[in-house]
Order: sequence, then structure tokens, then C-alpha cells
Amino acid sequence: MARLEILKYPDPRLAKIAHPVANITENTVELINSMLETMYAAPGVGLAATQVGVLQRIVVMDVDHENPHKTIYKLINPVITHSEGSLVWEEGCLSVVDFTAEVRRAEQVQVVALDEHDKELKIEAEGLLAVALQHEIDHLDGKLFIDRISRLKRDLYARRRRKMLRSGTQPSEPQHVMI
Ligand code: NI
Repeated sequence: MARLEILKYPDPRLAKIAHPVANITENTVELINSMLETMYAAPGVGLAATQVGVLQRIVVMDVDHENPHKTIYKLINPVITHSEGSLVWEEGCLSVVDFTAEVRRAEQVQVVALDEHDKELKIEAEGLLAVALQHEIDHLDGKLFIDRISRLKRDLYARRRRKMLRSGTQPSEPQHVMI
């Protein structure tokens, strides 16, 4: 297990589409464990392999703040098989420093994935879990939550972020749940 570096916008690797995992191997399990360690250390409630520079369709999540480590999701090749309703959630992301925004997504989703034992999982989700699933699967498709807000807001953030990078300003401590 190792703590991995989380890529930050505007790293172009965050915009790449991840490939399905063909075979679940020891390396897959090790990657998942390292991703969990990295997610908890960040701290965040979700992390996609794309965010650590690995283009495989793997996501880890633990959205239960009150009971950390109790409900851990390790999802390989997750697919949204059903979605309905709509909600707006204030999102933050470990790869998008110093910024949160309201994003509209489906209110309820059903996701099918494999776990690390190659067993099929079916998840029925609403609220933060549904938001996190959609946010993480977006990462696997090379999309960030800022791709789902208005162009004006995105451009303002992009400009502020470039300025931060130029001046070497360190990001402030996140005050929000990071997914
Ligand atoms: Ni994210």
C-alpha cells in the first residue's frame, strides 16, 4: 500500500477516458488499497483511479462520515444502469482545489459494478452516495464537476487557478466534503 499523488486541475490526464479492467489481479487489489489510503488521508469521500494517473475504471468511496471505514465501496467497471429525478448539490473535488459549486445531477441512481473478488454488486443510491457515484464515474470519463457548471463560472475558476499556479499560492484547507 502506498499513498498516491492526486492530480489537480488543469492536469490534462484528468481529461482522459479510463479503460475497463479486463482482469482483476493482485495489482488491482493493491491499487484499490492504495487509493483508499490516499482518499482517507486527503481527506475525501471518493476517489477515481483517473485522479491518481491510472486510466482504469476503478472507484473507491466511503461517504459515511459518522462511521468511517464501515461502508467502503470498491467499484470496478461501474456503470449507471438507471437514474431518475434531479437534485442540486454543492460539490467539491480533491482534484479541483479551492473551489466548490452547485451541480445538478440525478437524485437516485442504480449502479452495477464488480468488487475486488470479481463479484457483481448492485447499488441503489440517493443523496450524497448518488452524487458521489455520478461524480466518480464522471472522473472515469475524463469529466470534472466544473465541466457541469456554466462556462462563465468555469472560466473564472480556470483563470483564478492559473494565477494561483503562477504565483505559487498554496491551496487553502478544504472546508467542504471532497468527492
Ligand atoms: Ni472528484
